[in-house]
Amino acid sequence: MASPRNRTLRLTQRETSARVAKLPEKPVLTIESNVYLGAVEQALKVLPQNYFDLIIADPPYNYGMDFGNNSDRRSKADYAEWTETWLSNLERVASPHASFYICAGWESSGLYQQALARSGLHVLNRITWKRDKGRGAKRNWKQNMEDIWFAVRDKKSHTFNLESVKVHKPVIAPYRENGKPKDWSLDSEGAPYRMTHPSNIWTDLTVPFWSMRENTPHPTQKPEALMERIILASSNVGDRILDLFSGSGTASVVAKRLGREYVGVEMNPEYVRYAMKRLRLVTVEIEV
Ligand SMILES: C[S@@+](CC[C@H](N)C(=O)[O-])C[C@H]1O[C@@H](n2cnc3c(N)ncnc32)[C@H](O)[C@@H]1O
Repeated sequence: MASPRNRTLRLTQRETSARVAKLPEKPVLTIESNVYLGAVEQALKVLPQNYFDLIIADPPYNYGMDFGNNSDRRSKADYAEWTETWLSNLERVASPHASFYICAGWESSGLYQQALARSGLHVLNRITWKRDKGRGAKRNWKQNMEDIWFAVRDKKSHTFNLESVKVHKPVIAPYRENGKPKDWSLDSEGAPYRMTHPSNIWTDLTVPFWSMRENTPHPTQKPEALMERIILASSNVGDRILDLFSGSGTASVVAKRLGREYVGVEMNPEYVRYAMKRLRLVTVEIEV
């Protein structure tokens, strides 16, 4: 029996057969915020052109995970070809000042870097997320990281809200000038700190666990806090976010909470239903 502290979201009997929205069959000029059932390859052909301000993609890493389909069990050559195909079609749906975040495991990471560069986008960074989950190996190092490639369409006009994502850092040697703190403050416990620029190594974000309300049965669900960092930095209230390979809908849920428009695309109807439930439960909180 599940522990009483287990807060993993579950679908009711009725919700397991709820109707899901399907991707349009033909190209459209506009689309409502929702999570849609369908393949990313199709989505990139039919979603509105020049439309999304931020595109987040969390594709299968080809690690043999069970997503209820064979998408994570391709040959290396097939995976490379498939990656190149969908990545090269991203630009069609992106607005002229769009940003892109593409998640990758260590094995596929190089592939994404090269495919992104070939696609004509400007790769601005490689974020490494220390994710602390998974088993150790007897004859190898434990797999403990994921990469997130950050690229933009136009280096001069992309959104980057630095102030929204600055990080709290303790100040070890609080320096004073003319008796006044130089660039630091005291927190509620009287300890000196400063808000500083976020780096490309993210070590403070845990994967969702069964005791967390955001957890669902999706095997590779991303933390809401990770999507929140991306969305706060690279979009504004009212912007349109495309959540490709949306799984349990994490990016869409956070986008809704932060007052953005969102379109999720996922090929497993069960995960679409989890995303629908999470979207129903979320409360909009627009940042000031
Ligand atoms: C790494 S998971 C995404 C997890 C998601 N970010 C979350 O927080 O729940 C990848 C997802 O892509 C879906 N998928 C695989 N191939 C797909 C395709 N061609 N089109 C749409 N979805 C696909 C899988 O079913 C799986 O749910």
